[in-house]
Amino acid sequence: MDNSKEKRIIIAIDGYSSTGKSTMAKALARRIGYAYIDTGAMYRAVTLYCLDHGLIDGDKVDEAALQQQLPSIRITFGVDKADGHSVTMLNGRNVESEIRSMRVSGKVSLIAAIGFVRRHLVKQQQAMGRDKGIVMDGRDIGTAVFPDAELKVFVTASAETRARRRYDELRGKGDATVTYDEVLHNVTERDRIDTTRAESPLRQADDALVLDNSTMSIDKQNQWLLDHYRQAATK
Ligand code: DC
Repeated sequence: MDNSKEKRIIIAIDGYSSTGKSTMAKALARRIGYAYIDTGAMYRAVTLYCLDHGLIDGDKVDEAALQQQLPSIRITFGVDKADGHSVTMLNGRNVESEIRSMRVSGKVSLIAAIGFVRRHLVKQQQAMGRDKGIVMDGRDIGTAVFPDAELKVFVTASAETRARRRYDELRGKGDATVTYDEVLHNVTERDRIDTTRAESPLRQADDALVLDNSTMSIDKQNQWLLDHYRQAATK
């Protein structure tokens, strides 16, 4: 692709859980040679840390202990040598599959609602985008992390479509016990917590382009995003 006339920009992709935002964001980043950051993975990694260190009891988080330990929680991104895919590392350990488990999905909204956790992770995310040339996906990228991003996309799809995708993904990964109803409940419950929390609730930025991909193929979505990237980068 001739991208000599294109400037380096920030691409913010927000939206509901399991809309396939990460798949789109990753594909675009690879195609245009940008870095890709999955911010949900960062909230998930903090959640895994809390579960492993006994900081979550039912719906209660030991916030005092978490605040004290937060500076020692190091989240980085690496590459899986076997398949070249990006992996999330927690204090040097590959936690990519653990952070996608229902154990973590069931608690991550609690952690993502804590103000000091958000401020800590947002600061790291802003530092990652200092040189632009980045695709970042999450819930508050276009509203809080990069309110001046040159391209903002808000992805949405029906809860049933998203639950079906997530269920197929978990089954495909060998989780034989998970049920569709359990996944649908998790998706709607996370929507509720994510949109109603006091700290940076999930909402569409006023200047975001909306993409409802309930009935769109992955190829179509990728093309749609690439077209909008080209427009934004040549403006
Ligand atoms: O995208 P995901 O499902 O992996 O995100 C996991 C959780 O983290 C989700 O419930 C919302 C939260 N999250 C957030 O609050 N802000 C972000 N920038 C990314 C994720």
